[in-house]
Amino acid sequence: MKLKHTISLLASLLVASPVILAQPEVPVNLPEFKEGQYIHDAPTVEDLRKDDSIHPELKKVILKGRDMFMNTQQLRGKYVFNDLNCKSCHMGEGRMNWSAPVWPAATTLPDFRGKNQHVNSLEERIAGCFSFSMNGKSPAYGSDDMLAMVAYHKWLATGAPVYEKNIGGRGFSHLGREKPELSYERGQEVYAENCAVCHGENGQGQEKNGEVVFPPLWGDGSYNWGAGMTRIFTAASFIQNNMPLGKPGSLTDDEAWQVANFINSQERPQDPRYTGDVKETREKYLNFHKHTNYGTVVNGELLGDHDNTGTKPFLKPDILQPRTFE
Ligand code: HEC
Ligand code: HEC
Repeated sequence: MKLKHTISLLASLLVASPVILAQPEVPVNLPEFKEGQYIHDAPTVEDLRKDDSIHPELKKVILKGRDMFMNTQQLRGKYVFNDLNCKSCHMGEGRMNWSAPVWPAATTLPDFRGKNQHVNSLEERIAGCFSFSMNGKSPAYGSDDMLAMVAYHKWLATGAPVYEKNIGGRGFSHLGREKPELSYERGQEVYAENCAVCHGENGQGQEKNGEVVFPPLWGDGSYNWGAGMTRIFTAASFIQNNMPLGKPGSLTDDEAWQVANFINSQERPQDPRYTGDVKETREKYLNFHKHTNYGTVVNGELLGDHDNTGTKPFLKPDILQPRTFE
């Protein structure tokens, strides 16, 4: 009861002053880094402003990329068709370890990616999050917008070794992939107790003066069911480290798993890889979907069985085209 009270107080505070939202509190109870791992301390905007070795024109481009990352909603209807910003999931401006810091993509790509079974560039990786997590469409490769995004990612990687794979705090995966026994009802309870106050009774999030203050967790305004966050283990680790906002690390591991399963047992925009048959889509991308509930029966309904793409007017962004080398 006390926890709930603190959270609702925090929620009203955050709604009252969106400025606080730009600086989420640093998570507590983070896992320890393993021996031999490369640990990166990504630069801050202050570092950028102070650094005379960076050409003012490049600073402008990096800052534009950062602005797009933090307030991706400015691209709504163009590249973004849901209520999210890149920083909604990549906490702390995409710099924060254990919250999928984005810079590793700048030092480890090009590389083969299991999700699309070919070699990806940094641009393609960014395009991936636009297509799935933002339920959108990527800026064109080589465009000014893409250049700004790439510049932001690369600058965050300043000083990091190239092709280093053993990176501490990368991704959202510290809870591992092996899930405990999951119960929809248990997840629903955890949700009502710890999350609904901000994200809404029906996961719809909250807006104030036309601006999203708490992003939705399912429904049309959320990530689509091809997004990495639909994998239960990914959501569980994200949630355990970052949510409830302001009280990270306060859920038990089991509670994080249960609530991750609950939010990812709800309907959301169609996976852009949809073949026209939800079960077939699941089978075709089972490598990915073995970690999601989509294409399985949940509470008597086949999850993901619809043509609804949210507000997105198309199903297949160009990014999904394969690449082959002879
Ligand atoms: C709904 C949550 C969500 C949103 C919003 C989101 N991402 Fe991601 N992103 C993820 C997940 C999940 C991963 C994979 C993390 C993992 O492997 O554990 C990821 C990974 C990445 C990576 C690769 C990081 C690495 O370690 O190689 C980059 C780069 C990236 N995202 C960029 C972006 C950009 C740019 C945007 C905005 C256009 C964005 N993301 C929006 C969830 C999100
Ligand atoms: C105090 C308000 C608050 C509470 C309580 C809260 N969240 Fe969040 N949550 C946020 C905000 C704000 C963001 C976006 C962070 C940002 O933009 O910096 C967010 C982001 C998220 C995201 C990634 C973005 C998205 O919309 O998919 C997920 C998933 C999430 N929260 C799940 C949860 C879960 C599960 C709980 C309960 C255990 C929870 N949150 C409790 C405020 C809250």
